[in-house]
Amino acid sequence: ADVIQSGFCLNKRVFIRADLNVPQDASGRITEDTRIRASLPCIRMALDAGAAVMVTSHLGRPAEGVFKPGDSLAPVAERLSELLGRPVPLVSSWVDGVPVEPGQLVLLENCRLNVGEKSNDEALSRKLAALCDVFVHDAFGTAHRAEATTHGIAQFAPIVCAGPLLAAEIDAINSALAQPKRPLVAIVGGSKVSSKLTILQSLASKVDQLIVGGGIANTFMLAAGLNIGKSLAEPGLVEEARAVIDAMKARGAEVPIPTDVVCAKSFGSDAIATVKQAGDVEDDDLILDIGPETAARLAAQLKSAGTIVWNGPVGVFEFEAFSKGTEGIARAIADSSAFSIAGGGDTLAAIAQYGIEKDVGYISTGGGAFLEVLEGRALPAFEILQQRAETSPF
Ligand code: 3PG
Repeated sequence: ADVIQSGFCLNKRVFIRADLNVPQDASGRITEDTRIRASLPCIRMALDAGAAVMVTSHLGRPAEGVFKPGDSLAPVAERLSELLGRPVPLVSSWVDGVPVEPGQLVLLENCRLNVGEKSNDEALSRKLAALCDVFVHDAFGTAHRAEATTHGIAQFAPIVCAGPLLAAEIDAINSALAQPKRPLVAIVGGSKVSSKLTILQSLASKVDQLIVGGGIANTFMLAAGLNIGKSLAEPGLVEEARAVIDAMKARGAEVPIPTDVVCAKSFGSDAIATVKQAGDVEDDDLILDIGPETAARLAAQLKSAGTIVWNGPVGVFEFEAFSKGTEGIARAIADSSAFSIAGGGDTLAAIAQYGIEKDVGYISTGGGAFLEVLEGRALPAFEILQQRAETSPF
């Protein structure tokens, strides 16, 4: 922010990498725009500084070099334009040059359509760097990826810096974990243990209580010797789940296993929900949420927490009949006096669904990046900025 606001950016070409990878429905309508809103301070700062502003982002995971209309940032350009109250032209082909004047803002089409983006290709990175005087990385949600617009460009652009969102995100997560008010409670939900195993292992050495939910809890129930019927789980990771439980036990802490669950015989919004004790799950049952007794117990534990870290829903909250567990957790976090920090796409959707945005201490725009910072891993896109800072004139 100091670089952007220093007066240095007047009449300079400023290239901002933002994370505008927002969810859309089948017709391309943006269903949740937190990330676009979160990118506004950086964009406004560069415009106010009198720069010629170029912003890009990825959207989804398109095939490089093959344009399909669904991959376009056009809906994002429209939303940005509404939010900023000014036109935001979308430049479709931009690697070889961008027509933009000081005081103007353009959005550069989905950067993952450029061949070499994902592989952080040096030739592409050098071309991107040549487009600007200043590169600003403000895409916290993508800072765990070393790609041409997140890493390569930062090696070669004349001046590079972190944007206000990237800096605020890293500060917020690190300070919540550095000296947390105890007890520190983490809730890790979502469908798969495999995608969150390293975070579970890492949290098991830091937190006082580790609450698991969703498909992850099903694998932990298997590890506890319970029948989970046809529920989503990863039996191959039962040993790893057991090791997480043991690591917590060794520190006198626990991973509470659901004592009751909400089951159905099929998956869908019209499936009939039945509450069962965890020991009564039948072979043809699907566990789709935690039960009311478990939700009440966890809510009580959250009430006495000093710090809460939340990533992932504890049930299929998109379906009303299986949303009570996640709603209970969300409301308990909102009511708790603990400092809470939440991140991840589904978590953000749940926070929005229950309208508790103002009651969460810090809402991260990151999914994978949020998890990696929680794990204490270095983000490659941030590391390169730090390296460059060592030789920076600012
Ligand atoms: C995200 O949605 O987590 C970020 O935008 C990163 O997207 P990616 O996982 O496709 O790199």
